[in-house]
Amino acid sequence: MQLNKNKAKIGMMFDQIAGRYDFLNHFFTANLDKCWRRKIIRQIKYFNFPFDTVVDLASGTGDMMAELLKLGPEKAYSFDISEKMLDVQRVKIKDERLVIEVADSENMPVGDNSVDILTIGFGVRNFENLDKSLDEIRRVLKPKGILIVLEMFGMKKRNVLFEFYFTRIMPLFGKLISHSTYAYDYLHNSVMKFKTVDEFAALAVSRGFALRKKDNNFLKFVYSVYLQKS
Ligand SMILES: C[S@@+](CC[C@H](N)C(=O)[O-])C[C@H]1O[C@@H](n2cnc3c(N)ncnc32)[C@H](O)[C@@H]1O
Repeated sequence: MQLNKNKAKIGMMFDQIAGRYDFLNHFFTANLDKCWRRKIIRQIKYFNFPFDTVVDLASGTGDMMAELLKLGPEKAYSFDISEKMLDVQRVKIKDERLVIEVADSENMPVGDNSVDILTIGFGVRNFENLDKSLDEIRRVLKPKGILIVLEMFGMKKRNVLFEFYFTRIMPLFGKLISHSTYAYDYLHNSVMKFKTVDEFAALAVSRGFALRKKDNNFLKFVYSVYLQKS
């Protein structure tokens, strides 16, 4: 399968599955995705990272933002290129501190050096231009600001269990429930072809971040990566 990460195409794909996204996400991860997001909040508290202004990029239906709001930020922004994913978030989260807006990772409507924490849950793998996105994230973060990336990273070695689950189980249920023939084939391919966690961290370091921590959430392919603007 040819991977097309063109922003318009990716946005349309998520628009198409927005109504079923939450159900499928929790179903496919057996609700573990909720634990991974909560663990990030515990780490933010543990490291004592400031959280006055937070951004959740590629925010989708807002599960990460819902957790971030529990920290008690003064201002919060959810950005995504899919209007329909954000529409689901608008119904789920009502909070006067929160601005929900269509915006892409290469051009966020917030000022330089203005954000304490920026999270991205299962988003970076879909970015059309990762280098440009990292530069933009660096621009908006305050000095020493924190970027937290929760992602399914590529793997160096073949993993038979992973391949069976992603090529047989997920497309079957994904197509049945979301009615998208493309989205769940794309999911598998985008993970297979994505950088390993170490390659991703090295890229981030080359764009002006320091690696603070990488947390193996699941089978050494779902990680939370903590990076600090240096
Ligand atoms: C797999 S969903 C993740 C949603 C949510 N963060 C979560 O953890 O469930 C990926 C999201 O990334 C968004 N996205 C993809 N490329 C993007 C980009 N360049 N800028 C902003 N959002 C993007 C998609 O529209 C989609 O909502």
